[in-house]
Amino acid sequence: MSFLSDALSRVKPSPTIAVTTLAQELKAAGQDVIGLGAGEPDFDTPANIKDAAIAAIHAGKTKYTAPDGIPELKQAICAKLARENGLRYTPAQVSVGSGGKQTLYNALMATLNPGDEVLIPAPYWVSYPDMVLLAGGTPVTIEASLETAFKITPDQLEAAITPKTKWLIFNSPSNPTGAGYSRAELKALTDVLMRHPHVWVMTDDMYEHLAYDDFEFCTPAQVEPGLYERTLTCNGVSKAYAMTGWRIGYAAGPEPLIAAMRKIQSQSTSNPCSISQWAAVEALNGPQDYLAPNAEMFRRRRDLVVSMLNAIEGVTCPVPEGAFYVYPSIKSLIGKTSAAGTRITDDESFCRALLEETGVAVVFGAAFGLSPNFRVSYATSDEALTEACTRIQSFCAALS
Ligand SMILES: Cc1ncc(COP(=O)(O)O)c(C=O)c1O
Repeated sequence: MSFLSDALSRVKPSPTIAVTTLAQELKAAGQDVIGLGAGEPDFDTPANIKDAAIAAIHAGKTKYTAPDGIPELKQAICAKLARENGLRYTPAQVSVGSGGKQTLYNALMATLNPGDEVLIPAPYWVSYPDMVLLAGGTPVTIEASLETAFKITPDQLEAAITPKTKWLIFNSPSNPTGAGYSRAELKALTDVLMRHPHVWVMTDDMYEHLAYDDFEFCTPAQVEPGLYERTLTCNGVSKAYAMTGWRIGYAAGPEPLIAAMRKIQSQSTSNPCSISQWAAVEALNGPQDYLAPNAEMFRRRRDLVVSMLNAIEGVTCPVPEGAFYVYPSIKSLIGKTSAAGTRITDDESFCRALLEETGVAVVFGAAFGLSPNFRVSYATSDEALTEACTRIQSFCAALS
């Protein structure tokens, strides 16, 4: 009998973290590796945010805080949700956690019983199904296709709902595809949800500020106010403010759910780092002027990567609306053999051969629930992206 819990046997380690770690190891061993696996901005946290953290340290704000956040941060989150999303929440409806990941995890832990189903559009962020499994629920994927630009349709959503469905996890713009639902597309989905009052929505708005061209970000409770009472609006400072290491995420929703999440957090991590919370207050309340130029820089990189990948015969790469990922299909390359003699049987063998033969690290699509594809994170310099895409082009051209 294993010493480890049954719950652990249900989940796998994060494949994206595994790829990033492998790329770092190969680099440390002296190999010429370009890592396109990491899901974080390549620039530094803005100076005003760092200064706020340093000021917090000097002011002695270094003690335990309320389990789900200091009042000042909850207030800043309420102001942000009103200002940017037209959503009215009180501080008692807000939960702050150690990263968006913990907030989502707390919500699932607080609500799932064995047999409860959670709808997850695929391709999905790698952690959703595993967090559902850890919390004892059943992930039910709804597969979006390349043909629908990686977005699920209202009919698919309708067909996936059962009496056991508890949540729909909704993520737009998406990790790993960058796909963003327009207001009309989202409204068509919320119309379905309005017909099923037992289904709640957990919306992961982490990439809100990374949206390009004329794409208008919107979130379910904003598009359909009728869903407000059964929506948990989740967001965080990690991606928009380049604060992945600070570990601050948040959720807003009905008070009883927020109280249940608080209970879990008070018995696990106690509270998010006090210093990071003060930094997040500054991130949300301080100047927002760098968000647009950052998004413009990412748009340029997206266009660079999409055009270089689409120039490859056998690779199809839709233009995503946001985030910093693209998710090209390699359907036409399956069955071929690489220059070094590796047979490409699936996206995992493609990515392994690509890393071994060219030093470019990307994440295979099977990790995100839709194959054969791979995910490129373009949150790195133009030079690195150009070099990496040139290597991918040569690798694919040499396939026979
Ligand atoms: C869709 C999505 N949600 C949540 C997170 C987690 O963010 P955090 O670093 O704040 O935990 C990520 C990070 O990769 C993500 O891509």
